[in-house]
This record gives sequence, structure tokens and C-alpha cells, in this order.
Amino acid sequence: MPKIVLGVCGSIAAYRAADLARDLMRAGCEVRVCLTDSAQKFVTPILFETLTGNPCLIDTFDEPERGRMAHLDWARQADLLLIAPASANTINKLANGIGEDMLTTIALAFEGPMMLAPAMNPAMYQHPETQASLNNLVEHGATLIEPTEGDVVAGESGQGKLAGNAEIVGTALALLNRSNLLAGKRVLITSGPTQEPIDSVRFLSNRSSGKMGSALAQAALLMGAEVKVIAGPSMAIYPRNAHVIEVRTAEEMHKAALAELSSCDLAIGAAAVADYRPSNPQEGKIRRSDDAISLDLVPNPDIIAELAKSGKRTVGFAAEPSTDLTVAIAKIQRKGLYAIAHNDVSNRGIGFESDKNQITLIRADGVQETSPLASKLLVALWLLERIAE
Ligand code: PMT
Repeated sequence: MPKIVLGVCGSIAAYRAADLARDLMRAGCEVRVCLTDSAQKFVTPILFETLTGNPCLIDTFDEPERGRMAHLDWARQADLLLIAPASANTINKLANGIGEDMLTTIALAFEGPMMLAPAMNPAMYQHPETQASLNNLVEHGATLIEPTEGDVVAGESGQGKLAGNAEIVGTALALLNRSNLLAGKRVLITSGPTQEPIDSVRFLSNRSSGKMGSALAQAALLMGAEVKVIAGPSMAIYPRNAHVIEVRTAEEMHKAALAELSSCDLAIGAAAVADYRPSNPQEGKIRRSDDAISLDLVPNPDIIAELAKSGKRTVGFAAEPSTDLTVAIAKIQRKGLYAIAHNDVSNRGIGFESDKNQITLIRADGVQETSPLASKLLVALWLLERIAE
């Protein structure tokens, strides 16, 4: 049974750590909790002791087993150190090697994988010191689950909400069971929508949020790859240790993908690329009149098909409005792909914009397999394990 030390910092989101501990236990992990002083203003040790059946560490000199220094004992026995919610104070201490409470001394003594799921006021999150500390920790191997955007306390809103438990638990399990199938490999991912200008203020686009591309990037990093993402415009937050190239149009995505092709071993097309673009985008703004107007559209380059011509392993996604696999299968042939992930986008609970997905992977040799319906990260890991083999 994998052993997790769950560090809980002072944040209104500390109450969610109770559910998180339970979810980790349901997923088969043993959980031991360490609270910072500030965390105790929001939640109590007895809550976690009752939930987990293990003593909860609070003070730097706590010693549940006499004669054994708990910070060393817990650090040696843990398979994963997960800090959720992680506060700005603890993040900045960790980045600077400061061990001045039980949690930070455990972190200093711990040699395994560390995961951070921050939650705090958006201004504190965006503070240059917090961002520099997070970059530093990620560079040194920590896995960061970025907070989400939304309403936070005190009537403010922005990026600062603790990520969902499913994402935190999914990532923890991925870290614990990670395969290094992609170690030393370079993965190129296209992600998000493209925008095709009609005039200076309008464009043609689609509902892709970039979440699937971001999940693929995170999953590939967890499996040891170097990752480049060519990202169309979206609100998606990509992992900091992925190299992200931002583009707007299909033509820009095409150019960037071809430029990166020689330095990749595996290419994945999760982007929802516009098949057509207005042939003659107008400068300025098209003005209203009572006359009908029409747009002349010309086809965009088929990016994934061009990447596949290189002979490198290339995997596409097929966003289809039904469960019928026929069109997806035809795309494997037409685009010269190793495999395609059929994504039924008529199901509102998966695919475009959703946090979850379910795909059927169809390989060029005809083998088909359907993933579980799960978070996009888990589906991405499922997919990569099958195409990296
Ligand atoms: O971004 P999310 O909100 O998380 O949603 C994820 C998703 C639904 C967008 C994603 O999982 C998905 O299905 N992406 C492919 C969407 C799509 O445009 O499919 P398609 O059937 O039109 O294209 C097939 C393949 O060719 C895709 O790999 C696409 O990236 C690629 N393509 C298509 C057209 C084109 N001009 N160039 C391409 O490379």
C-alpha cells in the first residue's frame, strides 16, 4: 500500500483536505497528515486522526513513537509528499530550503516525489516571489497542480482555488505508479483551437479549451518526456516544465509544428484546427448593412497529416458528433497516422471544454480499445501508455 504524507497549510481550502485524505484512502493509499500552525486555525488534528487512523503531526518536535524523530521517520517511510492546500508561506519556505516547522522539515528530509496543490488569494499567487518559488520547485522535480480560476474568499476572483480532488488524486496515483515509458523521448503536442480572422475584430473558431492538450503535456512529463506544446488561444494552463509555443491561426500552428518536427520523437494532434479560413480577411471592421454577405473559405493545411509524412509516430484525435468510429478510422488512412483517438463530442460530459474525457483508441493495425471515463489527465496517461509501447 503506497504511503502518502499529506501536508495541510493555512488556507480556507484546508477543509477540503479532509475529503482529499479520504479519496486517497479510497484509492488504496495510507495517509498520514501533517498540519502547519496556520492550518490548525481552520481544521483540527483530531479530524484527520479520526479519518486516517494515524497520528497527525503538528509541532516540529512531535514524536508519536518515542525515540524516533518523526520528521525523519515519516520522510523515510513515505512514497509521496503531497502538500494540499499549499500556502504561499510554505511554498516560499520550501523553495529556499527553510525547515522551521514539522512540514518543512519533513520536506527537507524527504527524497521522493513531491506534489504541490496551491490555494490562496490570486494576488498572493501571482506575486513574483511565489511564482519564482514555484518555478524553482518545479525545476527541481516537484509536480505542481495549478490552482483553478474562479471566485475566492473576500469577494475576489482569479487563479487561486484548490484544484479538484479528482485531478489531485489522479496525479498522485500517476506519480506513485508512473511508468518511465517516455523517458528520453521528445513529445510534440498541438492543443486548443485556432482562430481564423474574418476582419480585425472577428474570427472563426471552435469550443476547444486546450484542457486535453494540457493533460497530455502533464502526462507525458510524468512519464519522463521532454514536452513541447503548440497552443492555440485558450485559457488552458500548461505545465511550467513544458515548452509552450503560442499561435493563433492554423497557418501559424502549421509553421510552428513543422519547425519543431525534427526535434520530436512522437507527435500528438489534440488541437481542434479550423479546416477552413476566410480567403480574404478584411482590415478594420466589416460594417452592417441590409445586404446578405458571404465568406469565401479556403482549406487550411492538414497539420497532423504533414507531421505523419515524416515517418515519426503520429497520433491524431477525431472529434466526432457520434459514437460511430467509421469516420475516425478513415482519418487514420487519409492522414497516415499510427493511431487516432475517437472523441464523441455529442456527449456534453466529455470532449470539448469538459474536465473529463473518454476516448476509443484505434490503431492503424485495427486494434481498438476504449478508455475509462475519467479526468483528462488519467485519459491522457491511459493513451500515452498505449502509444508509447
Ligand atoms: O480542448 P478540449 O476542450 O480539452 O477538447 C478536446 C478535444 C475534443 C478538442 C480533443 O480531444 C479532440 O478531439 N481534438 C481533435 C479535434 C478535431 O479537430 O478533430 P478533427 O477530426 O477535425 O481532426 C482530426 C485530427 O487532425 C486531429 O488530430 C486534428 O488536430 C488534426 N487536424 C485537423 C485539421 C487540420 N487542418 N489539421 C490537423 O492537424
